[in-house]
Amino acid sequence: MNYRHHFHAGNFADVMKHALLGRLVAGLQRKEKGFLYLDTHAGRGSYDLTAAAQGDTLARQPEHPQGIGRLWGRPDLPEGLAEYVALVKRFDREQGNPGEAPRFYPGSPWIARLLARPQERLVLCEKQPAESELLDIGFGRDPRVKVLTMDGYAAPRALLPPPERRALILIDPPFEAQDEFARIAAAVGEGLRRLPGAVFAIWYPLTERARVEAFFGELLALKLPPTLELELTVAGEQSAVKMRGCGLVVINPPWQFDGEARRMLDWLADALAQEAGGRAKCRWLVPE
Ligand SMILES: C[S@@+](CC[C@H](N)C(=O)[O-])C[C@H]1O[C@@H](n2cnc3c(N)ncnc32)[C@H](O)[C@@H]1O
Repeated sequence: MNYRHHFHAGNFADVMKHALLGRLVAGLQRKEKGFLYLDTHAGRGSYDLTAAAQGDTLARQPEHPQGIGRLWGRPDLPEGLAEYVALVKRFDREQGNPGEAPRFYPGSPWIARLLARPQERLVLCEKQPAESELLDIGFGRDPRVKVLTMDGYAAPRALLPPPERRALILIDPPFEAQDEFARIAAAVGEGLRRLPGAVFAIWYPLTERARVEAFFGELLALKLPPTLELELTVAGEQSAVKMRGCGLVVINPPWQFDGEARRMLDWLADALAQEAGGRAKCRWLVPE
């Protein structure tokens, strides 16, 4: 497996995931007490979008113009998305892009790090040594951040409960392995046993609907606390677009996150549509 997120960086799925991640962090920050941010599949931390067109063996079509590119110049961003785009612009500038078009895009580790207060801690797990080395270079000197080259699915057992007894856990795998959904469900079960109040955000692609339904079944068998299902599709069910949508399951969402997410996703469904039939969905899988 040699998944490289940089081909996809800044695409519509990253926009959804990272904008919602920002709201989850803000929700947890309503309390003064710090929390652990655990990224089980962290990637390399940040991405140079000019490298997105260079494939390993074949040139690739960059995906960011259909994602962050669509939001970059919009003067009418709603609450939540305005903060997210401002954060990405700040990162892009701080990394040294003098240009008008986006170039440096923050992955989930940087989104969380830019928003972290002094009382937060970040643990970033990444299995590929080449990617985790880049994380180390980016974060190595920050005492709040720990980079671990390890299987992220083992992290809930190894790291929970944290001393803070509060945690936000992002599970964002590449979905290359056949048993990815089963491994997620097992890690979530382990995490909830160790810290029942932990907030989990689990990203998934909408490529084969049947597998997602089976995944929900596995999750529900864990007797979940309140859980939200959020989805964004950029094309209709019959579309030939390879990934026509994606979702985020949020376990133990912070207060009022559901309303924020609904408003953001409704707006994104219009702004990021690639074909007719795209839509936003926000429903309680397990009610509050
Ligand atoms: C979708 S990318 C992560 C993107 C990142 N969360 C972001 O939003 O910027 C998935 C990453 O998981 C890594 N990976 C794959 N299997 C893993 C595992 N079992 N444990 C930890 N990392 C893994 C891949 O090398 C890849 O960098």
